[in-house]
Order: sequence, then structure tokens, then C-alpha cells
Amino acid sequence: MFGPKTYCAVVLGAQWGDEGKGKVVDVLAEEADVVVRYQGGANAGHTVDTGATEFILHQIPSGILHPRTICLIGNGVVLDPETLFTELDQLTGQGIDVSERLRVSDRAHLVLPYHKLLDAERDKSQKIGTTGRGIGPAYEDKTGRRGIRVGDLRHADRLGDMLAGQVERVNQLLGLLGSADRASLDEHRELLKRLAPRLLPLAADTGLLVYRALAAGKRVLLEGAQGALLDLDHGTYPYVTSSNTTAGGAVVGAGIGPKALDEVIGVVKAYTTRVGNGPLPTEAHGAEGDRLREAGGEYGATTGRPRRCGWFDATVVRYSVRVNGLTGLAVTKLDVLDEFAEVPVGVSYRLEGEPCEEMPADLDALGRVEPVYEMLPGWRKPTGGARRLADLPPQARAYLDRLEDLAGAPIRYVSVGTRRDQIIAV
Ligand code: IMP
Repeated sequence: MFGPKTYCAVVLGAQWGDEGKGKVVDVLAEEADVVVRYQGGANAGHTVDTGATEFILHQIPSGILHPRTICLIGNGVVLDPETLFTELDQLTGQGIDVSERLRVSDRAHLVLPYHKLLDAERDKSQKIGTTGRGIGPAYEDKTGRRGIRVGDLRHADRLGDMLAGQVERVNQLLGLLGSADRASLDEHRELLKRLAPRLLPLAADTGLLVYRALAAGKRVLLEGAQGALLDLDHGTYPYVTSSNTTAGGAVVGAGIGPKALDEVIGVVKAYTTRVGNGPLPTEAHGAEGDRLREAGGEYGATTGRPRRCGWFDATVVRYSVRVNGLTGLAVTKLDVLDEFAEVPVGVSYRLEGEPCEEMPADLDALGRVEPVYEMLPGWRKPTGGARRLADLPPQARAYLDRLEDLAGAPIRYVSVGTRRDQIIAV
């Protein structure tokens, strides 16, 4: 990935999240000096299987498992400090030294228990199917210019008033929503008093750290969370998360300029999944969907919810190539299709009998499109042992060639299992 012309690369999800970014980042981080998370929060669940142990990281960048990598949580992240410290303690307990290699932007906004209360209550009526991690309410506070940032913990005097204002506001909203739950100001005060001494030593101007690293010729990997179709602007609104998951969000959320990016790698599953509500045109219902779910272990890493499963949707990935400016694709979970006699690929849509080649912005239209499928022959052989493209059965290579043609971006990596070594660099 990195080389004389590549110092800064982004890895992001190009479908609806859960594409296997954690694994791709973990593998690429071996060559990186710095890894940066730039948006989202503890709604992410990045699974990394080192071969010896499986880690699920929600808040800390997946690069942390490499002993010399510096990991940064950028200004675009909404930080759940309790999750952060739970994860830090788990990693330390497993012998991974963390605190000297982790820094958190002092501009990042905090996710506090009152955000989670509001998230749970709102989702009862909005039915987005959120992760319940307080993400939407925390970003609302950010754009509403009333959020509490990591750096605010330095000012105990100001913080007390900010917290009191926020708790009062949230409790009014909870009342209006008909909830009997209330946030406690004392509990929030205690929480921040307890967490501040641990969080503040990690606080830094992370944008400056990235800038300096790049100026010194270091290699920087930006790690996205969720996926392009969950992007607040470009996703299937309102069934989206509350941040910009696409490449533009990477530069804003890491605090660098757009020209710093040398590569933008979109991670796609060899099929499609989605958690939560909203349209999923190539969804496979019934036995086929169940078969994909079981073969792929498609249960949420954060919430344990069964994922909705379906076939590769080339319209979605083409769109993702466009809105992210993807320079390459990493195709994951190819091995999940090993046993299928035939594999459908959604090449385009039809809407009310007419061809539809682009993603409609209108949610009703997207809910009504009918995918046009092409049936590709399966390979019915295990692919988990392949380490070069030439090791794959010809039908599997033909499948990848077709995905590449339809998507309009070159495939750079193919993952054939959960372990670190089960990846092919193309
Ligand atoms: P929120 O980000 O918790 O507000 O959830 C909004 C939508 O994004 C819901 O449909 C979630 O299921 C989805 N979502 C959030 N984080 C992830 C993720 O890491 N993977 C997949 N879907 C996610």
C-alpha cells in the first residue's frame, strides 16, 4: 500500500458498514506509522483476528494491535470515554501496551450517558434501528454548538455550567417524548470528575500530529467506520448514521487537507449486508438470506443483531466509487460464497419498468427498485488457503473480475478468511 508516492491512505466502508474494515486496517497498519479514526464513535465494531486472539474494537483504532503504531482518535469522532477506558483496560490485560501510543483529539466531542438515554428513547419512534450508543444525539449537540469537547475537561468551572444546561435540556426532551427516564446531573458530574484525570493526559491536537507525521515522511492510515451508504449526506437518509463516513469526512475528521490523501480504498463484502432499517435492494429473503448469514457469521459486532444479507449490488458500489473517489477496492469474505452453486450479482436496477443505473436519492424510489441480476457460476471449493490470485478457482477469479468491471475500480486486496494471513494482495 505505502510507497514512494503513497504516504496517506484511507480505508473506508463502501457499502452499509461491517465490510471487514477492521481486518484490512489491521493488515495495512503493519506498514503504517500512524493510524487515525476520524468519524463515528462506539457504534463501530471492528473485529480483528490475529490468529491467536480475536479483538472487537469499538473506539480505539484497529492499528493498536501493532506494537509500534501510533493511534489517534481524531476531532471528527464522538468519543465515549467509558468505552475507551474499558477497551484500554482489556488491551492492557491482554499484554498490549497502549497508553503511550494513543492520543485523543482535544476537539473531539464527548458521548455521555444522557446521549444514550435520548438515543434509545428517540429510536422507539424514529425506528432507524440505531446502535443505541448515543451517536445521533452527540452529533446533534456538536452541530447545535452546545457539545462538550475533550478539551473542556480542562476547565472544571465552565464544565459544571455546560453539564447542568445539557442535563436540563435532555430531561425536558425526555419528558416531551413521554419517557420516565431522567439524566442525573450528579452522576454526570461524578463521571467526568473520575474520567478527566485519565482522559486529559491523552488529549492532543491530533490534526497537528498527523500533519507533522506526513511532513516527516511517515505513513498515515485513516480508518473509517460504518460505510458510505450510512453517510449523513450520501447514504440512504434518514436510515443513516450521523457522520460523514465518505472520504470527505476523513480529511475533516482527521484535521488535514484534501490533497494529503494519496489512496482511498473502499472495503466491500463479496455480497451485501446491512444492520438496522432502510432499503436494501438486493436483500435475499428466506432460506438464501439465512444461508448467507450463517456462512458469513453475520451478527453485529456491537449489538449482536442478525444482519440482513443479500447479493453484491454493483449500483451501490459504483456509487461509492464515485462519492469517495475510490482508487481501489478490498473485497472481503469471498470464502463465504465457497459453497454456492451459483452467485447472483445485482448489476443495475429497474424502476417502474425503466432502466435505473444510478442510486436514487429518493428513499421511496430506492425501496421500489428491482435489481437486475446476472447469475455467475460458483466455485464450490474452499478458498481460505489462497494467498495469491492464481491460487483461487477460475470461477472465483471470474467472479472478482466481474465485480471489478461493474464497480469501475481496481481490486487491490481479496480477503478469504478472518485471520490476518488470509488476505491476497493483488
Ligand atoms: P447509529 O450510528 O447508532 O446512530 O445508527 C444509525 C444506523 O447506522 C443504524 O442503521 C445502525 O445499524 C447503523 N450503524 C451504525 N454503526 C454501524 C456499524 O459499525 N456497522 C453497521 N451499521 C452501523
